[in-house]
Amino acid sequence: MIIEKADRHGLARAGQVLREGGLVAFPTETVYGLGADATQGEAVASIFAAKGRPRFNPLIVHVPDVSSVERYAVMTPLAKKLAQAFWPGPLTLVLKRREGSGLSDLVSAGLDTVAIRVPGHPVAAALLAAAAVPIAAPSANRSGRVSPTRAEHVAADLGGAVDLVLDGGACTVGLESTILDCTGETVRLLRPGAVASEHIEEVTGRQVERSAGPAGAPTSPGQLASHYAPSAEVRLNVEKPLPGEALLAFGPDVPPHGGGPTINLSPEGDLHEAAAKLFASLRELDGAGVTTIAVMPIPNAGLGEAINDRLQRAAAPRS
Ligand code: TXA
Ligand code: MG
Repeated sequence: MIIEKADRHGLARAGQVLREGGLVAFPTETVYGLGADATQGEAVASIFAAKGRPRFNPLIVHVPDVSSVERYAVMTPLAKKLAQAFWPGPLTLVLKRREGSGLSDLVSAGLDTVAIRVPGHPVAAALLAAAAVPIAAPSANRSGRVSPTRAEHVAADLGGAVDLVLDGGACTVGLESTILDCTGETVRLLRPGAVASEHIEEVTGRQVERSAGPAGAPTSPGQLASHYAPSAEVRLNVEKPLPGEALLAFGPDVPPHGGGPTINLSPEGDLHEAAAKLFASLRELDGAGVTTIAVMPIPNAGLGEAINDRLQRAAAPRS
């Protein structure tokens, strides 16, 4: 594996690696992605192998602009409205796949839909231009573990399985894209993420549907109960941390604790700051070698919905 700066040279080399069927990790505004040419079946297969990802869990295809989306998928009027409001940006739309799209079937894990987004990060945009192919990319972590928000996280997690990592510094948003099912006449939330549901409802003028089903049931094939998991146990909504526990704090009123390692996601209680620091902080506390990470309550409005979704999965029983 080589780490390249995301300059002209690095981007040209990364584009070539992708076209030749290799794997390139690259920054997006949300998290680092592990990319392959979405039209080459073997290249896409190597993503699943590198991550240890189950084949039933489909991937997001990254494209440079809305007009390229239409080559691969069918945009409904509602999808167009959302695209105009949020692309380029951290929103993923699940759409009907177009016949003869040229995308590998593996990308969709056999479904007749495809998840697509137009990323807003300048390095991701430049890579799409340099490669001139649609890029299938899940988050660049081993399946089930904490998502990477820095090039070093990718190197630590996936090392030799990746041909090239483009280093574009820390991701600004820090949480994955919001995923919406837009195949029909309604908008269904498959994964809360970087675009708050309230914001989507403002744009569409209608309520976002949420899947009924028992708590923790997968609403998107990849929404397994245990995910984003550090090695340490995670304990949520903690008012009183126990001696020896690490503390992931939020807001100004941090309870006294037994001197374990502490990180405050946002002393001012800002959810954007907390989102940007969430995954790196879980990694750092995990690295301190504690057996449990205690997490203070985090409000559920705005980005809080996505933060709490990730924390609940990090805390879920592991199989
Ligand atoms: O921010 C992000 O979305 C990042 C960056 C790299 O773009 N990517 C990301 O990918 O989070 P990943 O693979 O970690 O999560 C993709 C999710 C999975 O839960 C998967 O099940 C769901 O998208 N998904 C993909 N295609 C789908 C489809 N056709 N229908 C329903 N869910 C789909
Ligand atoms: Mg992921």
